[in-house]
Amino acid sequence: MKYTLITGASSGIGLELAHIFAQNNHNLILTARNKGVLSLLKENLESQHKIDIKIISLDISGETGAINLYETVKKKQLEVDILINNAGIGSHGEFVGKEIQSDLDMINLNIITPTILTKLFLKDMLKAGNGRVFNIASTAGFQSGPLMSVYYGTKSYLLNFSEGVAEEVRNGDIKVITLCPGPTKTAFEKMDRIEKGLFKNFHIADPEDVAKYLYKNMDTKKDILIHGRLNKFMIFLTKFIPRKISLSLIKKIQEKK
Ligand SMILES: NC(=O)c1ccc[n+]([C@@H]2O[C@H](COP(=O)([O-])OP(=O)(O)OC[C@H]3O[C@@H](n4cnc5c(N)ncnc54)[C@H](OP(=O)(O)O)[C@@H]3O)[C@@H](O)[C@H]2O)c1
Repeated sequence: MKYTLITGASSGIGLELAHIFAQNNHNLILTARNKGVLSLLKENLESQHKIDIKIISLDISGETGAINLYETVKKKQLEVDILINNAGIGSHGEFVGKEIQSDLDMINLNIITPTILTKLFLKDMLKAGNGRVFNIASTAGFQSGPLMSVYYGTKSYLLNFSEGVAEEVRNGDIKVITLCPGPTKTAFEKMDRIEKGLFKNFHIADPEDVAKYLYKNMDTKKDILIHGRLNKFMIFLTKFIPRKISLSLIKKIQEKK
């Protein structure tokens, strides 16, 4: 039996991905730290759809967390044909004023974890001859982000890493795809901060729409998916705006948060 593994499935975009993949009859491995939420989700989805769901409640951050997740999946003898590296964290504030531990936590979960999981599961997919890896980066990955410098940096890494690996393994049956959502209504991007900021005039996506967009594009030939027309346009514009101007614009947006 084949499974879709979704990290960060207990809330936000990951939770909506679990719903849309369940509706389309994919067996699921759902991971996050919150066991209670995952158990309820499993119960709810299995009562509505004829699928098998395994939950793995783990801290998957960093080398130990990522290897632990892979080994747990292997011990249970589960075959993963779709991996969605979705779990991620962000934080806001001046780099020098913040505790280094919060930066390291972000680098561990947003960089180390998806790098290790991509390597381990992709090796298995290459052996099996098919598979897909989706890495959830962000529109933040296309530029630097003063006042969220480490977060933007982690997403730039994920975007560039993922695109590079996509080229390395390119063939008909193996795909590595990077999804870049823009601001989305989840616990991560707190609504009160968005509404007070420059984003108040922007469309803030629903996590359900982001998840549907990924599912609709399961067979895309593209390496990078950008959710939302406005986000696509803004990223197109960044190619023409001098970096210094783009930096001060992003700083102004972040200062309003
Ligand atoms: N929301 C946005 O505006 C936005 C925009 C662009 C990109 N993104 C990206 O989209 C992805 C999902 O974000 P979201 O907004 O849906 O976030 P969210 O609602 O905060 O969900 C984050 C998920 O990650 C899990 N998680 C966090 N730390 C973990 C850890 N150490 N070990 C295991 N699981 C952990 C959380 O579950 P537990 O707490 O139960 O562990 C939760 O399920 C992230 O990679 C984010 O960078 C978000």
